[in-house]
Amino acid sequence: MTWIRVATLDSLESGACTDVEVAGKQLSLFRLGAAVYATQAHCPQDGSRLSDGQVIDDNVECMNSGSRYHIASGRVLSGPATEALKTYPTRAEGRDIFVQAGEVSADVERQWFRALEASAVSEGETVEVTVAGYPLLVYRLNGSFYTTSAICTHEFARLTDGWIEGETIECPLHQAVFHIPTGRVEEGPARTPLSCNPIEERDGDIWVSLPVVRMAKSTQGGSS
Ligand code: FES
Repeated sequence: MTWIRVATLDSLESGACTDVEVAGKQLSLFRLGAAVYATQAHCPQDGSRLSDGQVIDDNVECMNSGSRYHIASGRVLSGPATEALKTYPTRAEGRDIFVQAGEVSADVERQWFRALEASAVSEGETVEVTVAGYPLLVYRLNGSFYTTSAICTHEFARLTDGWIEGETIECPLHQAVFHIPTGRVEEGPARTPLSCNPIEERDGDIWVSLPVVRMAKSTQGGSS
C-alpha cells in the first residue's frame, strides 16, 4: 500500500471536510482538531457528497438523506442509512497529511520532481529527502538509483537510521527487512511493502515521479 500526500494541515480547518481523489478513489478528508480522517466521499444511502453535508462534532450528516455517520469509524449513528462509510488510514507527518487508499494504479496522475544531485548519494548509501511533501530515501546500489518511502510500514520509524545490506534495508526499530528495488517485505514484523516510485538520473540530478492529488471542493462544518 502506498501512502499518498493529499493535503497540508494548514489547508484544512478543524471541523472542515474536503474532497480529494486518491489512487482513482473519491475520498472525503475531515479534520477534527489535531486528528485527520478519510472516508469514502459519498453517502452510501443516496450517493450525495458528504462534503455537501454538515460536520457536527465528531460526525457528518448527509444533506440529502439526513443520515449521520461517525467520522472516525464510519459507523451509522442515525438512518435511514444502514451501511457504514468506508474509512481509510491517515497519517500526519509534520504539516502534511497522508492517506493510504489502496494500490496506486498506473493511471494515477503523476509528476516528475527533482529530488537532489546524484553526487549527493554515495555508492551503497542512502539519503533522505522530502519531495513534494513525500519523505523519501534515495539509494545508490551498484551504480543504480532507487527510491522508497523513508518511513517503515510497520510502525513509525525512519528507515534513514536503518542498515543497508546488499539490496535490502533493515528497520532500526523492530528489524523488518525490505527489498529496496521492489519494496517487498523480506522479514517481518512489517507486512506491508514500502512504496517505490519511478526514479531517473538526468544531467547529474535525480528525478522522482510521484502521485499528485487533485483537490476538489471543501466545506466548512458546523456545530450543534
Ligand atoms: S517500525 Fe519498522 S519494523 Fe517496526
